[in-house]
Amino acid sequence: MSKFDHLRGVPGSRNRLAAQVWEGARVGAPSAEIPEADEVGVPAELRATIEHHMSLYPDRRSAVLPALRAAQELHGWVSDKAILQVAAVMQVTPAYLESVASFYDMLELEPVGRHRIYVCTNLSCQLRGAHDVVEAFSAATGSPVDGSSPDGVFRLRSFECLGACDTAPMASIDGHYRGPLTTEDAKHVADHIRAGGDPAEVLPDKRFVGDYGPHLEQQSSEGEPTDGFGEGTA
Ligand code: FES
Repeated sequence: MSKFDHLRGVPGSRNRLAAQVWEGARVGAPSAEIPEADEVGVPAELRATIEHHMSLYPDRRSAVLPALRAAQELHGWVSDKAILQVAAVMQVTPAYLESVASFYDMLELEPVGRHRIYVCTNLSCQLRGAHDVVEAFSAATGSPVDGSSPDGVFRLRSFECLGACDTAPMASIDGHYRGPLTTEDAKHVADHIRAGGDPAEVLPDKRFVGDYGPHLEQQSSEGEPTDGFGEGTA
């Protein structure tokens, strides 16, 4: 049974998501609903990352998305355990976090392959062969489109516009934008990752100038986020 199945019983609501939103609005809920960090075993690195993001905003809830993203990076998906750990650090209810996580497409709510490949198949990319590219990734990774490979290495998704249309057809490979891609590139990417290569280093000549990858996690000495435009800028 899911940790949050009790939400189904919220009066007046037969819809779980509606129940979550209803519950999520009660951010200032009794502290008994907020788990203790000791009880849910928050890893020190995750705690430090979340606390850092909270320190950047006057309202700690503004750090919800980077906090959930950090938990996903650690656990591979936004599991019930990940939700509880983030809730304990942020001092918000698990229901609030789940209502946010269920809204955003890039947060995975079930176990998926470790390396996430999102191939844009929106208009600009589609006109430049994105469907062939996504099929090539499927063949190279062994993952069905919008599924995961049986060996748990890859998660492959067909995505809406990722905002890098000038490099169409493109893909986000563990958050690193690459394009324009050919069908041959798909095998190169899969082989590189299977061999233990760093996804940030794949196809270096096809980096998007705004490769957002890990840069958002890097902070200047003043504690300000970097602009994310360092790598790949001509
Ligand atoms: S249509 Fe593919 S990035 Fe915009």
